[in-house]
Amino acid sequence: MGRNSLKGQVKISGAKNSALAIMAGTLLCDDDCRLNNMPCLSDINTMGLVLASLGVKIKKMTSSWEFNSRNLKAEKAPYDLVSQLRASFFVIGPILTRLGVAQVPLPGGCAIGSRPVELHVRGLQAMGANVTIEHGVVNASVKGSSGRLKGANIFLDYPSVGATETIMMAATLADGVTVIENAAKEPEIVDLANFCNSMGAKISGAGTDSIVIKGVERLHSTDYEIIPDRIEAGTFLVAGAITHSEILVTSVNHDHLIPVIAKLSEIGCKVIQEDKNILRTIPGELRASDIETLPHPGFPTDMQAQFMALLTISEGNSLVTETVFENRLRHVAELKRMGANIKVKGNSAHVVGVPMLSGAPVMATDLRASAALVLAGLAADGKTIVQGLQHLDRGYQDLEQKLQGLGAKIQRLQDYQP
Ligand code: EPZ
Repeated sequence: MGRNSLKGQVKISGAKNSALAIMAGTLLCDDDCRLNNMPCLSDINTMGLVLASLGVKIKKMTSSWEFNSRNLKAEKAPYDLVSQLRASFFVIGPILTRLGVAQVPLPGGCAIGSRPVELHVRGLQAMGANVTIEHGVVNASVKGSSGRLKGANIFLDYPSVGATETIMMAATLADGVTVIENAAKEPEIVDLANFCNSMGAKISGAGTDSIVIKGVERLHSTDYEIIPDRIEAGTFLVAGAITHSEILVTSVNHDHLIPVIAKLSEIGCKVIQEDKNILRTIPGELRASDIETLPHPGFPTDMQAQFMALLTISEGNSLVTETVFENRLRHVAELKRMGANIKVKGNSAHVVGVPMLSGAPVMATDLRASAALVLAGLAADGKTIVQGLQHLDRGYQDLEQKLQGLGAKIQRLQDYQP
């Protein structure tokens, strides 16, 4: 039920997109790796199943997981799992650099785009890998007798997060120095580099567009804390703005949210840093603003849908342009079912603010679209029923419980029949 203001505080969980890459990174070490602040999400469980299918011993505790990949097998990761989770393709770098051979199914496209992996493959080829793609499987092997990849200078045509992570992990055990130019600069890249360095890797420059990796012979065990999820935090900041509420968001890293906080303030909702890891929303009159998604530190594509929901009730005309993924405006049709005034042209959406949305049954099409529909429901008049929650559970831990903790009238309906 919408139109309730929120109050109180909400604690942010560990970052999905960091945890997924770092779980693949545990394959680099043949000793114990303990990861703390692990989020409880279906994507994390799927990655766990992928690693287990490759011979990794896994022990799960509440928000800590222990991994040991001493018996890592160069076997093919199961397609049925890889097809569910694109990030499982990130295991190709660690397996290849550890074992000299790897076979990983092509992940295929998803709801938001075709998601090719040629930048990952080209990076591995530059480091001396022989790569063929047959029957939907990427087969990679290290040329030569040493069985070790070789350091290389790699320029990425696009600062791809995944390709930067794959190449950076592969280079940690390579023979020689690798330089990645035009690298992705997302906080999750820095977290992965810090994780690898905590195992004895020699990575510098993560977070800049030039990363240098000096290969080492072997990595050792570690006990590592995953960073907070900046996209979950951003989603709750928008929940404060869209319901005109003053809330506290805790266990966040302010610096990871600078583009999001800047855009919220432009729209009319101030966000102040209450403490090192605490942010407070100060609500205000919502006004239109233009958004263009870009690689970090530009405006994150993973916040585009949530901000579009906010702009549907912000006074004036906004233009939202999605430049990172080719098919990430599917939430528009559902927001229009709630009375939003949006016209799509190519990869842009022209949003004209309306005074109020009205509650309606809507269908989530992907992870961030599902969050946007929940936010729209919080602000709408009447009841909104969001279906397709399997998308939401991939990336948000206990979203409805956390919102209930802030006073939202929200509940999950089991076995809902429209
Ligand atoms: C990561 O995906 C995140 N996923 C995505 O979050 C996020 O949207 C994206 O980075 C951008 O920030 C994980 O970390 C698990 P990319 P990734 O490689 O690595 C094209 C969410 O909602 N491209 O930077 O797949 C690609 O098709 C998810 O949590 C190539 O063309 O993103 C896309 O258009 C969704 N060739 C663009 O680059 C390649 O070889 C950005 O992709 C690789 C990518």
